[in-house]
Amino acid sequence: MSLLTLEYITHKIEDVKAIPEIITRIIGLTDNPDSTVTDVEKLVLRDQALTSKILRLANSAYYGYARRISTISEATVLLGFQAIKGIALASMAKDYMSGEFKGYSLEEKQLWNQSQTCAIISRYIARELKYPNPEEAYIAGLLRDIGKTILNEHMESEFKEVLSKVSSEGVTFLDAENEIFGYDHAEIGGIVAEKWNLPAVLIDAIKYHHTPDLSNINPVLVSIVHIADAMTMMMGVGIGLDGLSYNFSETALNTLGLDEMEVQNIISAVSDLIKDTDSF
Ligand SMILES: [Fe+2]
Repeated sequence: MSLLTLEYITHKIEDVKAIPEIITRIIGLTDNPDSTVTDVEKLVLRDQALTSKILRLANSAYYGYARRISTISEATVLLGFQAIKGIALASMAKDYMSGEFKGYSLEEKQLWNQSQTCAIISRYIARELKYPNPEEAYIAGLLRDIGKTILNEHMESEFKEVLSKVSSEGVTFLDAENEIFGYDHAEIGGIVAEKWNLPAVLIDAIKYHHTPDLSNINPVLVSIVHIADAMTMMMGVGIGLDGLSYNFSETALNTLGLDEMEVQNIISAVSDLIKDTDSF
């Protein structure tokens, strides 16, 4: 068992940089049914990078509008509050996840690309299943592995042990983490999400994305992210070493009412969608 105890790492999470105040405020505003488009616009305009990102997305082929969207209020109406929240959280997540994560044999940008893929697949499944908030599935898919960034940073001697376990025993990073540390990146991700005061559904999705049967807030969202995560790994998008060791949880498949045929259909539909993960 490693010296990197859960207590120690939880203590270290206290030092993790808080999410920018503007992001916290955008989450609060977009989750409040009394907020107006003007409220959102005022706040977004304070952040130049976020403003241009939102306008770029509103004018992208994805939304397919013929008319040029030139103000944040138009973009907010077009994209919706949840999408604005998603863009704000995604721009933050990109800062945390774009680096190289040696402990997971992930090169620069691989974790970020993998996360975007999982986000896109999560949103696709959510839409297919008529989940009421597909953008929430996108955000949850994007943030699910945030715990890896923290663990990676604090692994020292352990990281060789983790890598060798994964490559020689053919287990997943998740199993290796549990064996060596006694906890895993999903649990750590949950603690980080709590520290950031993310909405409870997101904490639940991050914490239980590998153990959907334990979800106690929104098993449907957790199952969507779990299935999208396993698909991402199986499809080999920046998989690191353990891509072939993932399985779909029976509980998640049952929760979503998906059979093997439907799973195959989703995999073939999303392989086109994810060709261009740099589009964010
Ligand atoms: Fe994970």
